[in-house]
Amino acid sequence: MNKNLKLVVKNSGLLALKFFKDLPDGNLFIAEARQQVPFDIKRVYFINTLANQKAVRGKHAHRELQQGIFCISGSFNLHLDDGIRKQRIRLNDPSCGILLGPFLWHTMSSFSYDCVILVLASAGFDEADYIRDYDEFRRVTSGVGRVEESKKPISSTRKTR
Ligand code: TYD
Repeated sequence: MNKNLKLVVKNSGLLALKFFKDLPDGNLFIAEARQQVPFDIKRVYFINTLANQKAVRGKHAHRELQQGIFCISGSFNLHLDDGIRKQRIRLNDPSCGILLGPFLWHTMSSFSYDCVILVLASAGFDEADYIRDYDEFRRVTSGVGRVEESKKPISSTRKTR
């Protein structure tokens, strides 16, 4: 993944870990809460043994949860969709992850045989925080847009004479 990659979707960003190269004695990667990762880390989970190359994971968004997703071995495609824009990123660099903020539909696919995904999350597991239905996601994200629009001060939408 290119470290200069520009995220075009909302509620995302690059997460660059602290990194010490100790080769040939290994590499050391560090994620600290409120430093390389912009939230307090309450949960860590990882996914391995992605033997099915046609596997597709994710296919949901969260209402409040923030997560940092890293590919710490191998590679996979991360598809992001904020309801307006979409972006596909090939994750293949353990030192550089992606922030998954709220209302960001995310799907993972095209896993290499050695892929290991590490996720750092801002809260414990809560099924009620998931949006698993894409139509609902589109309704909610277009609703968020309307709320933001309606909050604009009237003066800013009036033409000045
Ligand atoms: P899910 O988040 O949908 O996985 P992915 O995004 O990787 O495809 O979770 C799959 C299942 O695991 C689902 O039944 C919920 C459960 N689960 C937990 O119980 N706790 C957790 O912390 C996570 C991430 C999932």
